[in-house]
Amino acid sequence: MCSDSRMRYAEVGTGRRWRQYAVAASGLSIMMVCAALILVPGSGVPLPDHVFPLNSAQEAPVSEENCVACHENHVVRFETAPHHNTLLAGDDPLVAELLSGKTFTDTVSGAEFQYVQRNESVWLESSRRSSPLRVDWVFGSGHHARTPVTVVENPGGGSSVLQHVMSWYPDDVIQWTLGQIEERRDLAGIDGVAQPHTAQESRSCFLCHTTWLPETDDRLDLARTIPNVTCTRCHTQAEAHVAHAENGDIQRWSDLTPLESVNRCGQCHRRADHFTADELVTSNELLVRFASASLVQTSCFVNQQPESRFDCMTCHDPHERASANPFFYNQRCSGCHQSESSCSFSATTDECISCHMPKVQIHEGLKFTDHWIRIRE
Ligand code: HEC
Ligand code: HEC
Ligand code: HEC
Ligand code: HEC
Ligand code: HEC
Ligand code: HEC
Ligand code: HEC
Repeated sequence: MCSDSRMRYAEVGTGRRWRQYAVAASGLSIMMVCAALILVPGSGVPLPDHVFPLNSAQEAPVSEENCVACHENHVVRFETAPHHNTLLAGDDPLVAELLSGKTFTDTVSGAEFQYVQRNESVWLESSRRSSPLRVDWVFGSGHHARTPVTVVENPGGGSSVLQHVMSWYPDDVIQWTLGQIEERRDLAGIDGVAQPHTAQESRSCFLCHTTWLPETDDRLDLARTIPNVTCTRCHTQAEAHVAHAENGDIQRWSDLTPLESVNRCGQCHRRADHFTADELVTSNELLVRFASASLVQTSCFVNQQPESRFDCMTCHDPHERASANPFFYNQRCSGCHQSESSCSFSATTDECISCHMPKVQIHEGLKFTDHWIRIRE
């Protein structure tokens, strides 16, 4: 059954989308890339509803406070996970700590930007525009970048996200948001300080960065949203489980097929069926940003055997940061590739990922790991 919220989420994926995406990604911002229909890739068969829990429903799901009594270890461990920190409210003290006092001057256009704190809010001031923009939300955990946005009402009465042209980067500076230097370097006025998004695009930003967003018309109800990607965004049937935990009747990821599992993560990390066949080629560098779409192309995934399952959890624990130790990944590879491989490198001395899963820079200071594991020329 296609619920209204599903339709709305799906609608963003029209023919227009890829063009938008290409524009955005070649610049930098992150656009919605999801399919008009949610189908098993290549089969035309709709996936069962439970495979795609949606965070846009009438009722708020139970929250992580409902899990701590019995899963304290998971809740505590999860506090510092990137998934738990994908969105900061503008009045979070961390926002002022990160942004306030930071300045940037564009050497080409001469434009100046600075974040200042005033009246318990943080504002973006610029030589390009007389009135400042208030920081309402900040997207991103800071592992890559953090991008402030302002939410305004558009002329149609819906909500519009104004994505600032300045982002915070891990070296504790502000500079151009990915993609916007190409798009907005020479623009004046509001277009020179932020990228406006349609109501649907604005909604999609929050759909992928929150646990729950109330079902509304084009106006976002952000006062009630549950920010960050927390427990019940991934674990469905949690209400029944909390009420009758002794039955253990929560959906288990191990019951999903590897493709269902990868596609669930792909709801946000992008599924292969969000792209056309022409786009799913190794020469398309934009794919490095989309781990799930890439991973299912690999022979490791396609040729996997039931006794050695291959999905995202082969290498990641979604309750934690990704490991930064290359030898951690060597061990994962070695679980399936032993000495019979014609690759002459050794798991104890060589880093498998340096050749088969390299990091690719897609913007100054912004690298992603290519999840299309393969032999490279
Ligand atoms: C009253 C205690 C209790 C509460 C509250 C509780 N759980 Fe559980 N949970 C359990 C027990 C006990 C198990 C083990 C059941 C089993 O293995 O059959 C379990 C198992 C699980 C599993 C593992 C299923 C698997 O793959 O083996 C997940 C996931 C889970 N809980 C998530 C949650 C989430 C999310 C919340 C909060 C929304 C929550 N639980 C709240 C007691 C609880
Ligand atoms: C609701 C959307 C959503 C879903 C579902 C989701 N993710 Fe994510 N994931 C994100 C966002 C947003 C980030 C970026 C966090 C940040 O700002 O650094 C992220 C970051 C990550 C990272 C990077 C962690 C790091 O250390 O930088 C990994 C790995 C990851 N996700 C794996 C998974 C896996 C595995 C699943 C499925 C079990 C999954 N994600 C499901 C939205 C999602
Ligand atoms: C289809 C789901 C989806 C949508 C829609 C989406 N994001 Fe994300 N976002 C992600 C995932 C997954 C990550 C982590 C992997 C990555 O960085 O691409 C992420 C990462 C980020 C980051 C961390 C920095 C970075 O570049 O990795 C920022 C900032 C961000 N998103 C902002 C936004 C904004 C603003 C919008 C709306 C214009 C938006 N996102 C829309 C899924 C989404
Ligand atoms: C981004 C998705 C995601 C989020 C958010 C998430 N989990 Fe999980 N969780 C998973 C996946 C996937 C597994 C299965 C892990 C596996 O198969 O190795 C899992 C497994 C579990 C288990 C079973 C034991 C284990 O670790 O394998 C428990 C209990 C659990 N999660 C509780 C929680 C709680 C409590 C929260 C919130 C504090 C939470 N999860 C947040 C994806 C998520
Ligand atoms: C769950 C098991 C599994 C894991 C884990 C795994 N692979 Fe594979 N991989 C396979 C299978 C199966 C094939 C296909 C082999 C065949 O058909 O002979 C394959 C194929 C490959 C190939 C050949 C690709 C091609 O295009 O010909 C490379 C390279 C490779 N794997 C590297 C890696 C690396 C590096 C890692 C760790 C980062 C890894 N694999 C992790 C199962 C796995
Ligand atoms: C064979 C191992 C492997 C598998 C399977 C895997 N990853 Fe990764 N992933 C990595 C490595 C290696 C990194 C880089 C970690 C580092 O150095 O910070 C990474 C990093 C990431 C990041 C952080 C951003 C980036 O690109 O560096 C995200 C997001 C991510 N993975 C998502 C996923 C998702 C979603 C899946 C399932 C579709 C998945 N990964 C499956 C090995 C894997
Ligand atoms: C310096 C780069 C490099 C490193 C490091 C490396 N490989 Fe390779 N790998 C290659 C190349 C090149 C090939 C193509 C086959 C050949 O000529 O050896 C290959 C081929 C493979 C294949 C396919 C073999 C076949 O029979 O088709 C697998 C599987 C593989 N590597 C796994 C690994 C694993 C696991 C590691 C870590 C222990 C690793 N590689 C480390 C470069 C590398």
